[in-house]
Amino acid sequence: MRIAAGSDHAGFELKELLVSYLEAQGHEVADLGTTNGVDSVDYPDFGAAVARAVVSGDADLGVCACGTGIGIAIAANKIPGARAAVIHDVTTAKLAREHNHANVVCLGGRTTGTATATDALAAFLAATPERGRHDKRIEKLRDLDGSSTKGDPQ
Ligand code: RB5
Repeated sequence: MRIAAGSDHAGFELKELLVSYLEAQGHEVADLGTTNGVDSVDYPDFGAAVARAVVSGDADLGVCACGTGIGIAIAANKIPGARAAVIHDVTTAKLAREHNHANVVCLGGRTTGTATATDALAAFLAATPERGRHDKRIEKLRDLDGSSTKGDPQ
């Protein structure tokens, strides 16, 4: 898959680890920054960049990290068509994909350990959006931001 990745300084180390994991799994990763964990940057810039890559079709999915995953998810969700989910573990990752058809996942570099984060990302990638009753709810989400089918390659 083509995956866009981004983080602020607080998520930088986790983002680097997840990018390495994804590349080792054979995914094509576009790393949209930031480039180090020292210089303070603003998570909205990176969440928006990742979401725009997904919604435009340049990437199939997005992976974000900040201190908690929360701020960067809020930013990503401002982009119509993005469905960014903060995931904490395998269960939230799997359900974010199956029920919410998340196309961006966000993790916390200060809140989630590296093994748990990697397992969660693997579970997200292995999961498949479930149809039926969930499609109707996703359609309502699309109605809320007027995004039609943007960001839905699957
Ligand atoms: C940066 O210090 C921190 O506030 C940010 O990474 C994030 O946790 C916000 O949600």
